[in-house]
Amino acid sequence: MPCEEVLAHLTGLYAASDDPWQHRTSAYEAAKYAATLDIIGPGPFDQALEIGCGNGTLAALLAPRCGHLTLMECIPAAMASARMALAPQSNVTFIEGQAPAALPPLRPDLVLLSEVLYFLTPEEIGDLGEWLRRHASGRIIAVNWTGPTDEQLDGNAAIDLLAGILGQPATHRHDGFRIDIFDMTG
Ligand SMILES: C[S@@+](CC[C@H](N)C(=O)[O-])C[C@H]1O[C@@H](n2cnc3c(N)ncnc32)[C@H](O)[C@@H]1O
Repeated sequence: MPCEEVLAHLTGLYAASDDPWQHRTSAYEAAKYAATLDIIGPGPFDQALEIGCGNGTLAALLAPRCGHLTLMECIPAAMASARMALAPQSNVTFIEGQAPAALPPLRPDLVLLSEVLYFLTPEEIGDLGEWLRRHASGRIIAVNWTGPTDEQLDGNAAIDLLAGILGQPATHRHDGFRIDIFDMTG
């Protein structure tokens, strides 16, 4: 079930700003993106998927490493910004919808979950984990702020839930965030 309270919270944030977390301007975000892309590596990835792409700031850096990149985002205003940010890229598909319910029938060789998991309910993470177990063929990269959130879950609890389905990830800890790698190649 979509969590209406979370959707209302996110819609309000994007009504106030098209960059609510300063993804375009913050030095912290830039450093986090660099660490994330370093772990992702140069690719190329045949079919990459980013769930919760926001205004597309990170996706615009990822797209050149992908044969094809599918972006999923549940807030229309955020997706409109992502479409603008990715306009120069011809290899991107946009899905306006909420994960896990609206996930497409892809077999991605890279899945990026950057600062999105703690917006999901534990039940949604369960369903997402099952979808990933069945569909993901490469690596799943999850990036999470490790401080408190305004949501039901924080980043650490969200990863614990996903690890209960996918197995233990390799974890890289940074100041304020963690990057977890779930290897689905085995
Ligand atoms: C904090 S932003 C992160 C954006 C981008 N991934 C990054 O790291 O720069 C999280 C985004 O995930 C979206 N989101 C949250 N829950 C979602 C869901 N269940 N399905 C799709 N998008 C979701 C939010 O609307 C928001 O734009």
